[in-house]
Amino acid sequence: MKFLISAGPTREKIDPVRFITNLSSGKMGYALAEVALKLGHNVTLVSGPVSIAAPSNAKLIKVESAADMANVMKMEATNADVVISCAAVADYRPVVIYDTKMKKCDGNLLLELERTEDILASLGKMKPSNQILVGFAAETDNLISNAKIKLERKNLDWIVANKVGCVGQGFGVETNSASLISRNGEMISFPLQTKLELAEKIVHIILGSNIV
Ligand code: PMT
Repeated sequence: MKFLISAGPTREKIDPVRFITNLSSGKMGYALAEVALKLGHNVTLVSGPVSIAAPSNAKLIKVESAADMANVMKMEATNADVVISCAAVADYRPVVIYDTKMKKCDGNLLLELERTEDILASLGKMKPSNQILVGFAAETDNLISNAKIKLERKNLDWIVANKVGCVGQGFGVETNSASLISRNGEMISFPLQTKLELAEKIVHIILGSNIV
């Protein structure tokens, strides 16, 4: 099977030396890629800027901005059997990207931001009937209810709801806990464990299900 997995953050440029980003390290997405490869699948890993090494057998496509990631994901998804969107894509980008370094001046600076494309929602709209589409929901509160809204709105088969903003899980660290929710309403919760262990469980469950 062809797995298409996105991982890491995106960078939205302000000027040649500044950008907006987030704390994603790529560890969760890279762990999913490693598990799929171990099971003998083909893996295309679309990664924002991270400092970890990609699994050697993956086809690695490096991207920077949400717009770059959107282009690659939409192209690669057309023949993918399983698509997992684990990247922490910026929801907003600066309206203007300055060609030269912005000079500081007295007083405050207002930066105007505009929405980026919701890549996963686009993938949900173009999803072939036999593709398994999996999203993540990173929430600080109302984890399950917010995740269920995203599952439905983006036309997903599964969503991995993980709590962020607390110690030991989510962004940056080696461990995570999550609930895996299907579009049929099934929910399986996993306690805190390494991202690799969690990735193994997620991949086994989505492949074992008859949701396509
Ligand atoms: O990389 P790590 O340090 O290991 O951290 C892992 C993680 C916390 C980043 C990961 O487990 C995770 O939660 N990834 C999703 C982060 C996120 O952006 O969640 P969200 O709830 O804002 O977005 C919902 C879904 O829509 C996600 O699948 C996201 O990839 C996708 N999305 C969001 C915005 C956007 N413009 N386009 C998208 O495709």
